[in-house]
Order: sequence, then structure tokens, then C-alpha cells
Amino acid sequence: MRMVDLIEKKRDGKELSTEEIQFIINGYTNNTIPDYQVSALTMAIFFQGMTERERADLTMAMVNSGDTIDLAGIEGIKVDKHSTGGVGDTTTLVLGPLVAALGVPVAKMSGRGLGHTGGTIDKLESVAGFHVEIENDEFIRLVNENKIAVIGQSGNLTPADKKLYALRDVTATVDSIPLIASSIMSKKIAAGADAICLDVKTGAGAFMKTLDDARELATAMVNIGNNVGRKTMAIISDMSQPLGFAIGNALEVKEAIDTLSGNGPEDLTELCLTLGSYMVYLGGEASSTAEAREKLKEVIANGKALETFKTFLQSQGGDSSVVDDPSKLPQAQFQIELPSLEDGYVSEIVADEIGTAAMMLGAGRATKESEIDLAVGLVLKKKIGDQVKKGESLVTIYANQQDIEEVKETLYQNIKISTQKVSAPKLIQEEITI
Ligand code: URA
Ligand code: CA
Repeated sequence: MRMVDLIEKKRDGKELSTEEIQFIINGYTNNTIPDYQVSALTMAIFFQGMTERERADLTMAMVNSGDTIDLAGIEGIKVDKHSTGGVGDTTTLVLGPLVAALGVPVAKMSGRGLGHTGGTIDKLESVAGFHVEIENDEFIRLVNENKIAVIGQSGNLTPADKKLYALRDVTATVDSIPLIASSIMSKKIAAGADAICLDVKTGAGAFMKTLDDARELATAMVNIGNNVGRKTMAIISDMSQPLGFAIGNALEVKEAIDTLSGNGPEDLTELCLTLGSYMVYLGGEASSTAEAREKLKEVIANGKALETFKTFLQSQGGDSSVVDDPSKLPQAQFQIELPSLEDGYVSEIVADEIGTAAMMLGAGRATKESEIDLAVGLVLKKKIGDQVKKGESLVTIYANQQDIEEVKETLYQNIKISTQKVSAPKLIQEEITI
């Protein structure tokens, strides 16, 4: 097989065979096919697309390019959740204990990563003593015992995707639905998921800006999953404003505790109930998503979800008394209100820019080397559609520095007030079950 012939084939809109796709991914992983040929191929894919069969083959070739996590020692159906990037997205912290409380095993491998706030592990580390440096056996044992555990990323998962994603980033070929869909799905499958629940965000703050694009990506991922034997469902949810109120590590842990107690923000609660009902249904603990939803409400109301969170924290060395007394979480030195400069209705809260403001305070990493300040961040006092009076607070800023002029300016520029009434955006835009 010659790579140049395969590039030509795709350039001319023809379908690559399973063997040809494996040849490409193996060759790229082993460095026998150079970047420039793969660049040409990804550009051809960008214009010509890929069939459903090609997408499934590409996904599995990337899964097989490196290690895969073996979760066979865990009883039950392992359901994983994936969100395509959000701002202040506290859902993972809530969903884990929530579905675990119903017996669905949550075996989470998580990273730190770059972004507006830390990753799930950083957030959880705001609980004193909590750690994810556990052995594999211990991880499996904890999931079987408590139905939930989190471990740091290890192993060489999907090296082909790592190389390909980096190459796409510098060759203007990131924005290709088949390439994005297979990239995301390969990582979930390599991490051991039997079933996958996807949350594709749409709106100003999201990766997919329009509903049409989000639907296309969600459908592509659902098809890949089901074609490779992993039951997969997706929802499309609004990210035209940050989810919930809190953006920041310890602040989000507190928000998760509130939500697990039944006192969380309405949108975050609704999203967790929807995603959670899919997970419980896919995990075989309910015969329909409607039944799953009722069960989820029950474990919130009877305290079982919160109890599961406590057990989980404690089992990994964390001080679980923070759940009853969140003031034990890291606290910022200063709390500063951001007053509205006019009367009106909140019409826009540009999610990614608000995330940037949180990062300026130190809530996220700009580079791999930066240190996170777990205490700092933002708590929104208003959401889109809310009425606001001049002088009333729009946001509480939690800071460990007094000079926050730039943060305030970013917030003012990205929270827009209109004199006209504005309706709140619809949170769950679509559900894709196929
Ligand atoms: N996120 C991924 O993991 N892969 C892509 O290709 C795009 C976004
Ligand atoms: Ca939040």
C-alpha cells in the first residue's frame, strides 16, 4: 500500500477500506508515514468527508494505536459521560455521585488540563486530603465497593489521536465533523466505556456555535458508538451562558454539594437530571429514561446522593466533613461585588469570556506549568432573562488579589444589559437517541 494512492483516493471522494485506514493510522503512529502526507489526507477528509463505516474504522484504529483501560473487573455496565467543553461546567462533579447512588458504576479517569478552571481532579483537590494517586487494583476495588472512584490519567491512550489532533491544529483541519467525532469517541472507548452519554454544547461559548453543527456532531458520535458496539446517546445543551452560577474550583465543589442536596441552580440541576437519566438507563438500572429520572430525584431527596459523595471523598483520603460545612473549602481573601451600571434585563453572558475572567483571577491554567488557585473564581448573581437594577450585583468576584480592574472590565464587556425584556435560553435543545 502506498500512502500517496490513499490520499488520491480520498481526494477524489472515494471510500477508504478498513485495511487502508488501519495502514494509515499504524503508519502515522510508528512514524513511517510523515506529517506532510497525513496533512494532505486530513485536508482531503475535510472536503470529502467520511462514510459512517470509515468513521467507525478510524475510531477503532485510533483506539488500537495505544493502551486501552481494562475495566472488566468492575461489575455492571460502565457508562461514561462526555461534554464537549463548557464554562463552569460542574456536571461531572454532580453526576458521578448521583448515578453511583443508583448502582451505576462510575470509573472515572480524569485529567487536569488547561482551561478556564481546573479539570475534575483539580476541583476535587479543593477537598483537603483528596488524592487520585491510587493503584489500579485499588481503583477497581473502590468502584465495586462504592460505585465511584476517580484515578489520574495514566498509560499511553490513543497516541494516534494525540498526533493527529496536534497536526490538525496547525493545518486548519480541526473543524471536520468526522475527525472531531472519531477523536472524541476513540478516547472514551480506550478509557473502557461500555456505553456513552454525550453532552454536545451549542451557543456562543461552545465549540459548536450553531444548533445545526452541534446536531451533526452529536449524530456522528452516536452513530460511531452504536456502530462499534457501545450504546451511545446524546443531548445538545445550551452554552450561550455559563452553566449554574459558580466558575472556579472550590466554588464549583460547593455548587455540586448544593445540587446533590437539591438546592442547586435550576439549569445545572436540570442538565444533571437529564444526563443522569440517560446514564442510569444505559447502565441498566431503569427501564426507561423517565423511570431513571424519578429514581434520581429520589436519591437527591433522601440524601443518598450526598452520602455517596461523602463516601467517595473519604475513600480517597478527602475530608468529607466539607459536605456538611463547605466553609472548610479553600476561601478567597476578598469578595467583591460587581454592580450593574444600569437598569434592565440581562441579555447576554458570553460564556467563554466569563471563563477567561475566572482564569485571570487564577482559577485555571494558561500554560501547563501555571499553578491553580483553588479558592478564586466567580459566582453569577444574574442569568440571561433576569431583571437587574442599577447598583445591584451581577457577579461576586472571589479574589486573592486586590487589583482586579482587568477582570471587572472583562465582566462588564461580556455581561450585556438590555432595556427590553429577554427570555431565558432553552437549556436542553435536542436529544439524539437513534
Ligand atoms: N476535541 C477532541 O478531543 N478532538 C477534536 O478533534 C476536537 C475537540
Ligand atoms: Ca457552574
